[in-house]
Amino acid sequence: MLKRARLPLVAAPMLLVSGPELVIAACRAGVFGSFPTANCRAEGELDEWLYRIAAACGPDAAPCVPNLIVHRSNPRLDQDLDVILRHRPAAVITSVGSPAAVAPALRAAGIQVWCDVATVRHAERAIDAGADGLILLTAGAGGQTGSANPFAFVRAVRQRFDGIVALSGGQADGHALLAARALGCDLGYMGTRFIATREARADERYKDFVVESELDDIHLTNALSGLETNLLRRSLLAQGLDPAEFGLGPKRFSMTALEGREGGAPKRWRDIWSAGHSVSGVSDVPSVAELVDRLAAEYAEAARTTHALTAEPAQAAESGRVPGGAW
Ligand SMILES: Cc1cc2nc3c(=O)[nH]c(=O)nc-3n(C[C@H](O)[C@H](O)[C@H](O)COP(=O)(O)O)c2cc1C
Repeated sequence: MLKRARLPLVAAPMLLVSGPELVIAACRAGVFGSFPTANCRAEGELDEWLYRIAAACGPDAAPCVPNLIVHRSNPRLDQDLDVILRHRPAAVITSVGSPAAVAPALRAAGIQVWCDVATVRHAERAIDAGADGLILLTAGAGGQTGSANPFAFVRAVRQRFDGIVALSGGQADGHALLAARALGCDLGYMGTRFIATREARADERYKDFVVESELDDIHLTNALSGLETNLLRRSLLAQGLDPAEFGLGPKRFSMTALEGREGGAPKRWRDIWSAGHSVSGVSDVPSVAELVDRLAAEYAEAARTTHALTAEPAQAAESGRVPGGAW
């Protein structure tokens, strides 16, 4: 299944940003495409999107792996699960909660379950629930972020899990993607980089903010949904909001709060925009196909550089010779 992709990469699911255009372009370019099923608003829309994506991609494209938000405050979980079971994608990404309630049905239908997790304890619970893959949310990720250090987290998970591991957070180019692979991951996972693509359903000003921001301009708060979320400082300022008032308080996730259905202006996720530390690696708004070509070239270049860096010390280590500064 992983070999159906040209690059070991998922164009990550993003609330309001990932639609069929982005997914189709990603899968056709050769990376896994994904979207949260919550992005389908109208009755029957999820069914229609999955048919449209399958028809546009055909058998040679990389797989589409839809994302189910499994938190109990998601009112559409059962309904969306039924649609997914009928379409049988190769895998489903579960987020914001334990996959235990949905994993048996998905796995019985031959659908792999990839779970996003932010702590070792979450990872262990997902493994116990039968996860085929783990997506490790780490510090600096766009959207609802993790706080773990990626080096420590990947190595801790690799001590207990030999299934598929994807690293989420901080990657915007092929060099970072290769680093994720070197660390022990099967896949990289990029959200922020794909906001600034032509196919993303993001406001043009949102794309400009991603291009113009540095990682210092990313603001961490849990005031939006209860979970720690990275926001574009420029977006808060553009809404006339003071970033100092968007801090860290008590935690309680609520999907209705996230969507702004609990009242209050501005309209939450729609008007206050999120991105991760990887904004520092985004300086243009290409098409997805152009972006994936560029990532593939960078990945190949990074592999060449890494080979040059490691070949002599590796040979020296194998022969027991001290490499003498060849590191
Ligand atoms: C605007 C935005 C919306 C997101 N929405 C979701 C979502 O609905 N479901 C989900 O599992 N992850 C969501 N994420 C997280 C991404 O899937 C991914 O984990 C993250 O973007 C990776 O970090 P990066 O942005 O540094 O690449 C979102 C991220 C962003 C930036």
